[in-house]
This record gives sequence, C-alpha cells and structure tokens, in this order.
Amino acid sequence: MDKFRIIGGKQLKGGVAISGAKNSALPCLAASLLTSETVTLRNVPYVRDLITMRRLLEDLGCTVLVPELRTHQINAGTVENHEAPYELVKTMRASVLALGPLVGRFGQARVSLPGGCAIGQRPIDLHLMALAQMGAEIDLHSGVVEARASRLRGCDIEFETVTVTGTENVMMAAALADGVTRIMNAACEPEIVDLANLLTKMGAKIEGACTPTITITGVDHLGGADHTIIPDRIETGTFLVAAAMTRGELEITNCEPNHLHAVTGKLREAGVEIEQIAADKLRVTGNGKLRAADLTTAVYPGFPTDMQAQYMALMTQAEGGSVITETIFENRFMHASELMRLGAQMRIRGHSVDVHGPSHLTGAQLIASDLRASASLVLAGLAAEGETWIDRVYHIDRGYEKIEEKLRAVGAEIERVKT
Ligand code: EPZ
Repeated sequence: MDKFRIIGGKQLKGGVAISGAKNSALPCLAASLLTSETVTLRNVPYVRDLITMRRLLEDLGCTVLVPELRTHQINAGTVENHEAPYELVKTMRASVLALGPLVGRFGQARVSLPGGCAIGQRPIDLHLMALAQMGAEIDLHSGVVEARASRLRGCDIEFETVTVTGTENVMMAAALADGVTRIMNAACEPEIVDLANLLTKMGAKIEGACTPTITITGVDHLGGADHTIIPDRIETGTFLVAAAMTRGELEITNCEPNHLHAVTGKLREAGVEIEQIAADKLRVTGNGKLRAADLTTAVYPGFPTDMQAQYMALMTQAEGGSVITETIFENRFMHASELMRLGAQMRIRGHSVDVHGPSHLTGAQLIASDLRASASLVLAGLAAEGETWIDRVYHIDRGYEKIEEKLRAVGAEIERVKT
C-alpha cells in the first residue's frame, strides 16, 4: 500500500487547477445506462472511484471509450447484465447509482447492498422505499437487492432525510417512468443540478433541480448527449485550507466559486483571505492570523460534511476554541484521533469536537481511514514541523486526482512511497 511522506513547514505558492467533481461524474456515468445512444462526458476526474464506476459499466455490458484521459464515451446499447456485483459495490458504495437507471430502463436490477464504511452505516432504505413507491418489486436476500418493474410509475416521493444519491437514483429512474414524479425534501447539491442538466440534454423533462422539490415528467426514450462535469467544490475547499494552513498564497483555477459560498464564508470568518479574481478563479492567502470559528455541517447550501475534516485541521492552527458539530454522518471524526497524534488539542463529545488552538504540530506516523479524513491528515502534515508519514493513501486516491503532484507543484515537500 502506498504511503505519503511529507516534510511540513513549506509555504504553498502558485497555481492549482481543480479537476471535475467526483460526486457529479459518478451519477452522470450511471445515467448513461438510460439510453442506447452514446453519452460523452468531459472533465471526468482521473480518480479511483471513476475507474471503479467505469469497470461496473463495462461489467454490465457497456462500451466505455476514453479518447482522452478525462473524456469518457459510454454506450449502453449492448447492456445484457443487470447486476452490480459485491466485489465492486464493497469498494465503492456509489455503485448503488446503477439501481435507478437499470430499473428505469430495463425493469430489473440486482445490486449488492453496499454495507457501511468508516464514516457510517450508510443505509439505502430511502432509495428502496422510493423505488417501491414507484411500483418496483423489491426483494432483499443474501445481501443483494433485487428490483423489478414492468414500467415504473411516476408518483410523489417525500424523503424523510435529505439523501444525495437517493435523490439521484429517483431522478434517473423517474426520467423513463410513466407519469410525473415529484421528489420532496430533495437534495439541492450542485451535483444534483449537474445530473439534471445531463438528463435534460438526453431528453428528460426535469424542473426544480437545486430546490427541495424536483418534478420529473417521464418520457419514453432518452438519447445521447455531450456534457462537461462541473468542478469539484470539495477539492477547491481542500486547497483553500492548504494555503491557509501553510501561510501561503494560491491561485485556484477551473473552480466554481458559486458552489462553495458556505465554505468561503466560514473560512473568511476564520480569517482566511479569499478573493474571486475571475468567474472560475479564486486567490487565497494565509496570513497566519487564523481565528477559531464554530462549525456545524449541513445539507447544501450549508457547510458540506465533506469539508468537515479539512476544517478541523485548520482549526488546530486557529487562535481560540472552536466547536465542530457533524450532523450528517454518525462516525465522521476518525481523523480527530490522528490529528491528536500530531499534537492537536481536541476533545470528542458525541457529535461534536472541541478544538483548542493554535497547536504546535510535529510530524508523526498516521493512518488514513476514509477519503476526506485522509485529506485532513495531508493538510495537517503540511503544517506540522518535521516528517509525517500517512499510510493507506488509497483512500485519498478515490477522490483526489494526483494530489501529491498538485501540492508539489506549489512548493509542498510531499512524495508517494510505494511499499
Ligand atoms: C453523498 O453520499 C456523497 N457521495 C458523500 O460524499 C457525501 O458525504 C454525502 O452525499 C452527503 O453530502 C456521493 O455523492 C457519491 P446521503 P450519500 O444519502 O448519497 C442517511 C465523499 O467524501 N441515509 O446524502 O451516500 C445517511 O446515513 C462522499 O465524496 C439514510 O438513512 O449520502 C446519512 O446519514 C462521502 N438512508 C444521510 O442520510 C438512505 O437510504 C445523508 O446521506 C440514504 C441516506
């Protein structure tokens, strides 16, 4: 398993180009199952989860061409297999995004239950409830979900909890259903809007994406499309924090500032200087005067849970006490104990962590546990004195494209060590 070796204390200076959003590219690749025509997706990030999704589509019988590293051309005209197998689903729970399109277009799907992961139990009961309401027969046995329907029927779906992939699965299933589906308490993340834009280009009739009520009027047929994936707002936020923690200055390009107002607002409250210098460019300066500021994660447009770990790393360098509260997942503080090994002063209290700063961080041997926790450890290693080793960096490779190369290009001393 690869490790990162970091020598901290270097100020980051220069330009970083943001890659496409992993959490948009995943549902958009799955949406290509809804048509027998070719869907071309551009700005697809070169990360492990997308390689896994591509393998899943090929297992189902799709042809996936990659004429250029970040362009995928998918054709689902020859799909005969409707099963997402356990060995793929266990490595990436987002494989569950095949469920909606397979039932929507083929009337059948077999998807292994994803099981939990480091940050929580991650159930899909709301996905299944919604498909059952649309007329699918759902059977659960031996860890596999079987869903069948001659043709799904549009209906009103009210999610008791906002679910991003649940909203995405229903949008895709409803696109080919008979009648109108209204999703209430729908997720409003930018990735939902990006998927809705792709589906619309394919011929779907969707209104209200980016609001809590999305209306989909089913059609009989969807066609191909050519679509560019939005920038990754979480990668953008991660590099904003990297500049702040190393008292550096970065120019972040190919980003979408409108997708991360909650993040830039909170970082400015904490004393980070952030300036928008073009429609897709941010300049961030770490002036070393960080102030503690409390944080509570929330669904969009609130502060994203996927930035909580990175923010916690930042607060270890801020003056004063901050309370960080996680409201989305039940076990998303795995990074806290690793940060404490570097010298961070914090205390976990149920769904909150009390952080006291600034702490003098000194390098240590760390183990990554999940995607965003890994990013948090890299950020802390950049600020720590001396040498930090991070094991199991395959977690970070799931969602960040060549992060060590992007960091090295702006002055970080970080290398990947193959073991
Ligand atoms: C998506 O996961 C993202 N993944 C996650 O990003 C992100 O953290 C999460 O949304 C929240 O923003 C992708 O888009 C591929 P949810 P998802 O369904 O859809 C509960 C990353 O780091 N719930 O919105 O799986 C659930 O337990 C990843 O890139 C049910 O109870 O999250 C959680 O408490 C991590 N039943 C809450 O809802 C269900 O059927 C929100 O989960 C579904 C969800």
